[in-house]
Amino acid sequence: MADIPRRILIINGKGGCGKTTVATNLAATYARTLNPDSPPQANGKPSSCYSVALIDHDPQASSSHWASLRDGAQPEVHLQAAHQRAGMYQTQAFAYRIPQQTNRIIIDGHSNARDRDLEMLLKQTDVVLVPILASPIDIHAGGRFLSELLTHRLFRASPKPVGVIANRVHQNTATHDKLMHFLDCLDVPNVATFRDTPAYHDAMASGLGIVDMPECRAARKENVAWRKLVAWIESQPHSDRASVQALRSRPLSAGRIDTRREADSAQA
Ligand SMILES: Nc1ncnc2c1ncn2[C@@H]1O[C@H](COP(=O)(O)OP(=O)(O)O)[C@@H](O)[C@H]1O
Ligand SMILES: [Mg+2]
Repeated sequence: MADIPRRILIINGKGGCGKTTVATNLAATYARTLNPDSPPQANGKPSSCYSVALIDHDPQASSSHWASLRDGAQPEVHLQAAHQRAGMYQTQAFAYRIPQQTNRIIIDGHSNARDRDLEMLLKQTDVVLVPILASPIDIHAGGRFLSELLTHRLFRASPKPVGVIANRVHQNTATHDKLMHFLDCLDVPNVATFRDTPAYHDAMASGLGIVDMPECRAARKENVAWRKLVAWIESQPHSDRASVQALRSRPLSAGRIDTRREADSAQA
């Protein structure tokens, strides 16, 4: 199943909960994570990191902006601006016009994905991540979105792993306790918790992920949580989807191979 790309959708009906922050950071983390399916080196370690595509479905194009700021010193994340499509539902083939070597696809979903748009996104997804902020309004909206998702016709017909991400958390506050209680009551696992830190603004403003900022103390503290999130996603069953293989068109760009990634990841 090595070369069937795993597709991870980041979605919530609430704007501002951190979808783009999670999508861009997850893309950056995968791009620095050794791919165990790549050929082993002489020392037995995998020879390369995951090859990552980030698909921006949000008309606000924040992920696209992030990718435009990313410089050549960082491991490549291929950006596909799916919000630029001519018609809302002309997406499937378009969205998969990604480099042939891509093995992880991160989809930044938008807040108004409903009905056919949500269906289209779910059809293209293997794992769903739902970021939720620790505020009463966000907890309420997140709960509604999750029940909409879990009872969706397509979702019931073809269930997928779903994880909730507690975002912008200030530990040991009343709202944090409320969010944790809310998550305990759900059937959906809390798969990551990210702190509220300006490091995320800095990362967004410079085309970086938290994992690309080893010189920043706050970013270093967050690093482990991102690695754990990748480990959770990778522990989920990989479905057999020969159709995805067929959808991958010829490479649009050759895709830069950054040999520094290997060294960086080995150090991480
Ligand atoms: N963990 C965090 N710590 C600090 N700021 C955050 C964090 N997560 C998101 N933000 C900020 O919150 C704002 C909204 O996040 P964003 O990812 O754009 O949300 P969405 O894509 O769901 O609309 C952005 O300014 C982002 O930098
Ligand atoms: Mg966004």
